Amino acid sequence: MVDFTLKPHPTIPKPEGPLLVCIMDGWGVNVEDEYNAVHVAETPTYDAARKVPGRFRSILAHGTAVGLPSDADMGNSEVGHNALGAGQVIDQGASLVDKALASGSIYEGEGWAHISEAFAENTLHLIGLLSDGGVHSRTDQLFALVRGAADRGAKRIRVHVLTDGRDVPDGSSVGFAKELEAVLAEVRGRGVDALIASGGGRMCVTMDRYEADWEIVRRGWAAHVLGEAPHTFPDAVTAITTLRAEGSADPVSDQWLDPFVIVGADGEAVGPVRDGDAVAVFNFRADRVCQISKAFEYEEFAAFDRVRWPRTRFVGLMQYDGDLKLPARFLVPPPAISGVSGEVLARNGLRTFACSETQKYGHVTFFWNGNRSGYFDEALETYVEVPSDRVPFNQLPLMKAREICEAGKEALRSGRYDTVRINFANPDMVGHTGDLAATVEACACVDAAVGELLALTDELGGRWLLTSDHGNADDMVQRHKKTLAPLRDEAGQTVALTSHTLAPVPLAVGGAGLPEGVAFREDQPKAGLANVAATIFNLLGYEAPGHMEPSLLKA
Ligand code: 3PG
Ligand code: CO
Repeated sequence: MVDFTLKPHPTIPKPEGPLLVCIMDGWGVNVEDEYNAVHVAETPTYDAARKVPGRFRSILAHGTAVGLPSDADMGNSEVGHNALGAGQVIDQGASLVDKALASGSIYEGEGWAHISEAFAENTLHLIGLLSDGGVHSRTDQLFALVRGAADRGAKRIRVHVLTDGRDVPDGSSVGFAKELEAVLAEVRGRGVDALIASGGGRMCVTMDRYEADWEIVRRGWAAHVLGEAPHTFPDAVTAITTLRAEGSADPVSDQWLDPFVIVGADGEAVGPVRDGDAVAVFNFRADRVCQISKAFEYEEFAAFDRVRWPRTRFVGLMQYDGDLKLPARFLVPPPAISGVSGEVLARNGLRTFACSETQKYGHVTFFWNGNRSGYFDEALETYVEVPSDRVPFNQLPLMKAREICEAGKEALRSGRYDTVRINFANPDMVGHTGDLAATVEACACVDAAVGELLALTDELGGRWLLTSDHGNADDMVQRHKKTLAPLRDEAGQTVALTSHTLAPVPLAVGGAGLPEGVAFREDQPKAGLANVAATIFNLLGYEAPGHMEPSLLKA
């Protein structure tokens, strides 16, 4: 049982002013070369914070430190914000699915029973991100599900693939499609009618998040469910290679491929979704599959015209939203995250303001609060979403940094909040485009906005904590595995890195209201994001809650 009582800190008094917690999304501490956008950018605020003895350090943001299966796994915003907000290292979705597949328990639950009812007479559809990035999904888990369904009586399988190029190198989708085709050929050899049926790039088909743009989901619905898309192809490898060469998207890359449908010799779509079919979403991460799950599951649905709403046996690989119980049925129970910092604050009457723009809004609320979509106590909490632009973000690297900064300042000045929590999306969202110059600009914009927030916090006699959730902007080039020299294409151009990095992230504390002696302890060299929550409680003048990873401040 979690003890929610907070005890006053023995040496750090409560602050006079507010505590600002600021997350610079995708800002890692990495080798300082010309491909490190954080290093190249003008960052006077960050540079000043780095120079203060005892009040700057880096913390781990990837691998087992944040509950991922291995230390080869880069961090991401879901696990990062979970760890930051919960103050605990939680076995994450990827690990839980691995365990359920290894033990076979995935085939024994209610979710599997639900879809397997359709195996004899109807089709099993699998929809998700075709990638081994390990952020939203993994191909090895998809392949295990295809084989597992074939072994357990599925007669007809259709896979609907979203191409990645964001958590993995651009161009890798063709390889993943070939691997999937080989697995489908193998089960066809066992008498199962198994094909890829539709797909498209993850940034323009199906995988929207936080309702930033429902049109993305509508395109996916048309392709996967109705069997309609502007482009049809005989197979997915042809679809991906042709759309990469000739697609209308800008930039044309795996992330942005147009939707496509696979058709048979008769010109008919090979796998629309029909009444009675089973549908399983094979992403374990929630944010980018909540909307498609609603489209399948909710009878009452007004986000777009579904044209046809087949009555399906629908499951998620996990349950994506515990509050909404979305979806109602799932293959693997999600991580149980309890005693998160937001709940501890609310139960102790401490008031919180949280703000980001749409693209990261759920990160600083839903993920931060242990995958809960609501408030703990509405009287004590205010969450503000600044609507994001709908463009590839290298076109507007400033994103909504100004608006977020203004909202943060207003909250700080208002005196209504004990903590003001802000996430700046820029280094991550622009970093994912692979555009180095734009990412440098993104980092500079965030540094300037953070500078204003820190200055105001000082003015108000408050305290601040500055950190990030994972690396991204800190390395913008793919590298040779051994020499780490940048990879170059045939034309001699460096090859962009669009994904996150394995880099640690900064942790800095300060503020005019922070007593002089407060500094980081030196006995926690392997500390990670999960140590931040306890550190925040110390900054608020409380002892760290016992169920959390230790604070990084000297007692
Ligand atoms: C995305 O969903 O945009 C990427 O896969 C991961 O980015 P995030 O973890 O920073 O949101
Ligand atoms: Co990211």
